[in-house]
Amino acid sequence: MKHSYYLLFLIIPLFFSCTQEDNQIVEIGIIPKPLFQQINKGVFILDEDIRFISDVKLSEVSNYFKLYIEENYQLSFAPHKEAKEIVFNIDDAITNEEGYKLKIQENNILIVSKNSKGAFYAVQSLLQLLPIKSNNLAIAIPCLELRDEPQFKYRGMHLDVGRHFFSIDFIKKYIDLIARLKMNTFHWHLTEDQGWRIEIKKYPKLQEIAAYRNETLVGHYNEQPHQFDGEKYGGFYTQEQIKEVVAYAQTRQVTIIPEIEMPGHSQAAIAAYPALGCTGEQVEVATKWGVFDEVYCPKESTFKFLEDVIDEVVALFPGKYIHIGGDEAPKTNWKKCAHCQKIIKEKKLKNEYGLQSYFIARMEKYINSKGKQIIGWDEILEGGLAPNATVMSWRGTSGAIQAAKEGHDVILTPSSHCYFDHYQSDNENEPLAIGGFLPLEKVYHFNPIPEELTKDESRYVQGAQGNVWTEYMQTEKQLEYMAFPRVVALSEVVWSSPENKNYIDFISRLAQYQKRLDQLDVNYANPIYAVKGDLKNKAGRLSYELSTISSTYPIYYSIDESAPSKLYSNPIPVDSSMTIKAVLLDSKNTALGDIFNQKINLHKGVGAKISIDKEPHPAYNTGGKKALINGISGNNKRYGDKEWLGFSGEDIEITIEFDSPTNINTISTRFYNGNGQWIYAPKEIGFSFQLEDGKTINDIRKIEEKDKLLVNYSFATTSISVTRIEIIIKNYGIIPEGQQGAGHKAWLFIDELIIE
Ligand code: ACM
Ligand code: ZN
Repeated sequence: MKHSYYLLFLIIPLFFSCTQEDNQIVEIGIIPKPLFQQINKGVFILDEDIRFISDVKLSEVSNYFKLYIEENYQLSFAPHKEAKEIVFNIDDAITNEEGYKLKIQENNILIVSKNSKGAFYAVQSLLQLLPIKSNNLAIAIPCLELRDEPQFKYRGMHLDVGRHFFSIDFIKKYIDLIARLKMNTFHWHLTEDQGWRIEIKKYPKLQEIAAYRNETLVGHYNEQPHQFDGEKYGGFYTQEQIKEVVAYAQTRQVTIIPEIEMPGHSQAAIAAYPALGCTGEQVEVATKWGVFDEVYCPKESTFKFLEDVIDEVVALFPGKYIHIGGDEAPKTNWKKCAHCQKIIKEKKLKNEYGLQSYFIARMEKYINSKGKQIIGWDEILEGGLAPNATVMSWRGTSGAIQAAKEGHDVILTPSSHCYFDHYQSDNENEPLAIGGFLPLEKVYHFNPIPEELTKDESRYVQGAQGNVWTEYMQTEKQLEYMAFPRVVALSEVVWSSPENKNYIDFISRLAQYQKRLDQLDVNYANPIYAVKGDLKNKAGRLSYELSTISSTYPIYYSIDESAPSKLYSNPIPVDSSMTIKAVLLDSKNTALGDIFNQKINLHKGVGAKISIDKEPHPAYNTGGKKALINGISGNNKRYGDKEWLGFSGEDIEITIEFDSPTNINTISTRFYNGNGQWIYAPKEIGFSFQLEDGKTINDIRKIEEKDKLLVNYSFATTSISVTRIEIIIKNYGIIPEGQQGAGHKAWLFIDELIIE
């Protein structure tokens, strides 16, 4: 066969620069960023004359690599005597179980690891040095050395297949995609109120009844009245299919953690077997999202059912963990149930939270007896933690902090940084999502170790996980859009050392990685060409600064509702209300990314002094207190953007002071009221206006519009001349039973205070 050495276009600049200086450290695009990398002189030519030499313990990985090359490139391996070598060796001196060394030299590639995990990750790095696709008969790989190991042991991605069901092929694709990013855990959320998705042979009604719902909510849960599509929906995975997925995941060093929810999120199972609930009444598999009162009743027959389920589950999943859920289990039915109350008395439990703790501890004992450990969502802390449980902290980090202080392993999945069901851009045209705002950069900057932990306590932090709840993801393409590229950012959070992390550098590597995602047919969101804006106030002079993380294309803008056409160079002076539009244009004037659109309303509060008696919660304080009077309103759907401020369970008092007496007629604001996300508009707001003449006007108003997502509040008066306004906002209080987050303090989210 004719040998033709076409050099990979992408790599040419790299080794041109290397020839000038040996051992020069050059950026190459591996994600997640390796611990140590050094580019050396020269290239290794990967062609047909390659000999694979592997320690037998690593032969599966070397075969994986060989097969990958054969399937994706035109090379055919026909080893002969002088062939160059790709060598897989074991070295026990490598201390990290998943660590590896990769050395690419002109005549060989050496992969050294403690075991097949490290070798697999070495191969993943190597694959990122290969061209996306090549029809050439040889590929040049730059000579380099990598020494690499992960920061965290647990690097996970979750997927909810209960709300929407995804095919086995898609599950494999998802596992493959996360494995390429050196993630090692797939948390498979298999049971939900809206559908039971794992075949349990002993209980056929789980397949016949629990796996299907009669119809599905249309639109957002917060849109009232609820509408339904009238179409039966569902499905489940057979045990044979699950075995196939487990085996597939093993070839990619991914452990699967199955989640079997208890005692809550179990309405589908109760629909199939009503005796599992407290009332015994027939219920239907849930057709809308949320938290439901139907939970397992802790009867002996219920435990028998769950133990039988666990028996079949442990036989399918070889990993050490079984996730038992534990989140969002309303106590409504338990309070009314004679049996539940009897157990509370007999077992001398404090209350229904004690009963939940009893429930989980009892199931933990059973699961431990099968040689497995449990993981539960942070609610399992309430009423006392089961002795050996690992806690998955999702309601912020406090669950992780408490559990680690109690000496339990923890996994960080706070909704503020790890919920990939939240919106990811400011663009109002993004597909419908549950709410919230989690841009790529926020994911990237996540630190899984809570500041509150001492060094000693922080060793309980096993790692972090991104969660993909699928209420609003009906299709694979939409799911991919929500997960990517946030998974890519998270991979660096959990793998790379903090010193090696740099967002700008990450973005340049992401731009390359996106080409791989294209090849893999992944429908990712693309934040690279997004325009960002920031209102600046320099000694009372306002200007609006535009920026983008892409250094390749210029920003064009307009301030008069027209299409952006002026080249941006300096901050735009803001001396009147205006709408700024901006976009990146290429040399042919084609827009890259979406048009950025920002309305600025220079109302009378802009430029005044503001103070708040409480700090907003750190996760929802991006814009700081000034965000409430900067002339910019928050996004209609994303309470986590830099204009909304979020407070957890507190009453707040805001004071606005004017430099000079100011005539005003109205003051209006809005509150986010996403009850599904535990966010409630306040019931009451009080004002105190300090007038120029020394008098004070006090006013307390009730807030009525309970059913709306955005509750507007406006106080109107005849013109008054004020020097100072105090606003007292009472938090909604404890979330009522039957609602998501029942029993917990409500969040309060407030937007711009518009004074006119
Ligand atoms: C959860 O998001 N309910 C764990
Ligand atoms: Zn009961």
